Amino acid sequence: MRTIESLGSLTSRTVIVRCDLNVPLSDGVITDDGRIRASLTTIRELRDAGAKVVLVSHLGRPKGEPEERFSLKPVAARMAELLGAPVQFVAETVGDKAQAAIAGLNDGDVVLLENLRFNPGETSKDAAERRAFASQLAAYGDVFVSDGFGVVHRAQASVTDLAELLPSAAGRLVAGELEVLRKLTDDPARPYTVVLGGSKVSDKLGVIAHLLERVDTLLIGGGMLFTFLAAQGHSVAASLLEADQLDTVRGYLAKAEQRGVRILLPTDIVVAEAFAADAAHETVAADAIESSSFGAAGIGLDIGPETAAAFAAIITDSATVFWNGPMGVFEMDAFAAGTRTVARALTETNGFTVVGGGDSAAAVRALGFADDQFGHISTGGGASLEFLEGKTLPGLEVLA
Ligand code: 3PG
Repeated sequence: MRTIESLGSLTSRTVIVRCDLNVPLSDGVITDDGRIRASLTTIRELRDAGAKVVLVSHLGRPKGEPEERFSLKPVAARMAELLGAPVQFVAETVGDKAQAAIAGLNDGDVVLLENLRFNPGETSKDAAERRAFASQLAAYGDVFVSDGFGVVHRAQASVTDLAELLPSAAGRLVAGELEVLRKLTDDPARPYTVVLGGSKVSDKLGVIAHLLERVDTLLIGGGMLFTFLAAQGHSVAASLLEADQLDTVRGYLAKAEQRGVRILLPTDIVVAEAFAADAAHETVAADAIESSSFGAAGIGLDIGPETAAAFAAIITDSATVFWNGPMGVFEMDAFAAGTRTVARALTETNGFTVVGGGDSAAAVRALGFADDQFGHISTGGGASLEFLEGKTLPGLEVLA
């Protein structure tokens, strides 16, 4: 993998840096600035080297045209605070304003262009359209640094095409993420436990299949657990269920048994009357969800305390732990306990711990844990899962 050193002297050169500044926003306020913080190392290094720094990123999933709620403007303000230096924001990605701002940069200055996905070329399925957009961006810089780890699994204009059009290298964030994730794929210390949560099992099929060949224990929580319970023949009342995945999940359970991999499912569930922060709720056995006071209308929104304690005990005894996906609806206090217990166990184990993914990272921070209580908090959700899955990531391949 080419690193920044391969680009030679950067003094007075214009460096385009692809970051992943896709941070969660609520009414225009950033609720987790982890991805901005994680981008600073490379930016500081480039400024110190006397480069003119042009930052590009996406935020959310706008459909190829400007949408105020997906503007990167609040990100520029927060980045300036964290950097302790001005970050000029340009309200367009390509055009006269962007060109003028970049032409006016002095050595060490930083500019952030507007959301790349306001331009249809960024995510277009048409390779020529992507290339045309990337060429417009490439015209602004001398070299390209790819540092948006969260997006390296996407074959998009600013991730792959731009890296081909300019002399390019991986930034410090991308290089650092790879170093850590390789510890999980190349000979992890055992016992190796993976905790998977999040809402949909269909998002994690590839990674589960792959992990069954590698881990000692798989702990299943979050919305996806109900498809596992249903696959074992239990009723899950009105809980989230992906009926079309039942056969696949049955196949995983059989394969796990055959390979001696332990898949641990919850033994108790917090069931609520409705999907609401103030909904009535109670804890019932996982194989008797319909027996709650809410009958067939009950919705499972968190793992129960017995399950959380069992998961925590396994995590504490593990030498390597990777965690992706909350155990329940942690944004609602009443359904955050499972996620909190699992997070605490990760901070208490002596094993090497990695928290993967935007949601899981936001969850641990929202619950009051600090980044340095974990071995590593990845900035990539889909990207870290695809890496663990052993897939070739286009944004990395292009930097090889
Ligand atoms: C993420 O949040 O995982 C990254 O920013 C990638 O975003 P995307 O899934 O919209 O491509």
